[in-house]
Amino acid sequence: MKENISIGVFDSGFGGLEILREITKELPQYNYIYLGDTARVPYGNRFQEEVYNFTEQAVDFLFKRDCHLIIVACNTVSSEALRKIQQKYLPENYPEKRVLGVVIPVAEAAIETKNNRIGVIATQGTVNSSVFERELKKLNPKIKLFQRACPLLVAAIEDGKQDSKETRMLLENYLNPLLEKKVDVLILGCTHYGLLEKQIKEIVGDKVKIISEGKIVAEKLKDYLKRHPQIDNVLSKNSEIEFLTTDLTDKFKTLGTVFFGKPFDPKKIFL
Ligand code: DGL
Repeated sequence: MKENISIGVFDSGFGGLEILREITKELPQYNYIYLGDTARVPYGNRFQEEVYNFTEQAVDFLFKRDCHLIIVACNTVSSEALRKIQQKYLPENYPEKRVLGVVIPVAEAAIETKNNRIGVIATQGTVNSSVFERELKKLNPKIKLFQRACPLLVAAIEDGKQDSKETRMLLENYLNPLLEKKVDVLILGCTHYGLLEKQIKEIVGDKVKIISEGKIVAEKLKDYLKRHPQIDNVLSKNSEIEFLTTDLTDKFKTLGTVFFGKPFDPKKIFL
């Protein structure tokens, strides 16, 4: 049987497909397994313990499917579960494997600010965790971070309403307080918000640099694999992608196509 050692990409639902799209553009040679927990999405307003338990299940699943490295595309998971997975769960259970998140690469990209005032929009869970504040301040203690939870945006996007008037009004409401704080960098701290980048740009104008996650995560992963040949060497390179979801619906295919940029064939699994 052909060896299939893959990179796992885990998200609470569809949004991570945008991150996968950018990763596969930058690194098309690897094998990937995408896992979207669509049966339990959204994670953004769940208790931290629940998000952690779901993450442990997904990590076990992907490692059993021969992933050697997992990219957590979900900001909520990166904020609320990743540290414990990296510091406790992996050393005890999978010491040779790795799980990486999106927050640190994004924080590293965001610190190039002129006035040290950065805004972040994200789910309630990510905002409550203060993870962006912690990571940004480690890189530059002078940074002032202004956070804004946007609890209605994920649902608007999942309902296909990204171009609607209602979503535009929601965005203006969420973004205006950050603009009043004179932020000059804005982090889109949620898998889904990349789909709203055009609308967000129109509202915040040219003077605010927008940090959207897909490309940044892809570039950082490329760099990571260069710096860790012991991981790179075990990964299969047959350019295969498998799409798995915990709830197979037409929506996963249609909306997933919007996020991934082209059609694909998902399979349902149980966690
Ligand atoms: N994937 C989540 C994130 O990036 C957004 C969707 C959810 O709330 O599960 O935070």
